[in-house]
Amino acid sequence: MAVPFFSLRDQTRALKEEVVQRLGDVIDANGFANGPAVARFEAELASYLGIGHVVCVNSGTSALHGALIAAGVQAGDEVITVAHTWISTAWAISYTGARPVFVDVDRCTCGLDPRLLDRAVTPRTKAIIPVHLYGHPVDMDPILALAASRGIPVIEDCAQAIGARYKGRKTGSMGLANATSFYPSKNLGAYGEGGAVLTNDADVAARVRRLRDHAQAARHQHVELGFNWRMDGMQGAVLSVKLPHLDAWNRRRQAIASRYAAALQAMPGLALVPTLGWAEPIWHIYPVFHEQRDRFRALLDQRDVQTGVHYPTPIHLQPVYAWLNVPRGSLPVSEWMAATEVSLPMYPEMSDEQVNEVVDAVGDACKQLAG
Ligand SMILES: Cc1ncc(COP(=O)(O)O)c(C=O)c1O
Repeated sequence: MAVPFFSLRDQTRALKEEVVQRLGDVIDANGFANGPAVARFEAELASYLGIGHVVCVNSGTSALHGALIAAGVQAGDEVITVAHTWISTAWAISYTGARPVFVDVDRCTCGLDPRLLDRAVTPRTKAIIPVHLYGHPVDMDPILALAASRGIPVIEDCAQAIGARYKGRKTGSMGLANATSFYPSKNLGAYGEGGAVLTNDADVAARVRRLRDHAQAARHQHVELGFNWRMDGMQGAVLSVKLPHLDAWNRRRQAIASRYAAALQAMPGLALVPTLGWAEPIWHIYPVFHEQRDRFRALLDQRDVQTGVHYPTPIHLQPVYAWLNVPRGSLPVSEWMAATEVSLPMYPEMSDEQVNEVVDAVGDACKQLAG
């Protein structure tokens, strides 16, 4: 039985009629750039997250960029984040002219290790970006406490974690200005590009609203360097159709993850993310770790079980960031994850048979490689 790594086919089919109808409404209203469908979705997502403001923009990358500007980050500043993430987290820092400073990740959360944060802070540190990678929440309390004691804003990168909870609190609701992505493959994905800044701070929201529309304080009054970050109306309509399904989709992902964890935790040579009492991950990606990654993936491939790798090269070892001079070996957990991570198939429409097939194929591959 073939198991794709990811598929939107069944979900898109099931929602098609409703989506087409709502796209028709956008056409009738001629609300193509921002517009009423985006405003409506912003209100719905704010209510879902229990936060004051959602400001949609054209990508998660722009959302991170806007959040950093709104938090006051400027050229010459330092921003602490992790190297084991999608490159956008670092791009956004670089777009402001600030310097990314990388802290290693915690093996238990795959996110920023709070025990390493203090020694990375300098007088130039102007923001901290924990990334809830794979949809697993970072251990936020020690980060929030240290940031508060030093007056440093926290910006959650929530691109992979919409709907996840940390000690009951939704990710994307704890930092000053947080960012998410609606890239089509995300747990809440648009039918094109999109992202949003999530905040309880009215000034942050107002600043990002202005920045996304060419920094106009009033029509044709440009008060700072602005951007065209508007999300298109069609995406607002699609996201409004999808949001009511998000919790059910995330619960199905959690059920698949529980099945994977129960069946695979004792497999030789395989490491999993442990279950932590305070974490409610939503498993955008389900990662496992194997030292013989290429052989392990090849065995799964032979069984028609597709896998991914997120991400094979940590950011400090990317050519574009060679100028930072962060040597190999300095972020050992990030480098270990980059070398061993394998993403198993994970999407809500997977059948139980497909989940069982993944479990069997992974078990067989582990035993073969150990034997
Ligand atoms: C962790 C993380 N941060 C930021 C982004 C950027 O989002 P986008 O692709 O919408 O620009 C993504 C998604 O690609 C991501 O996974």
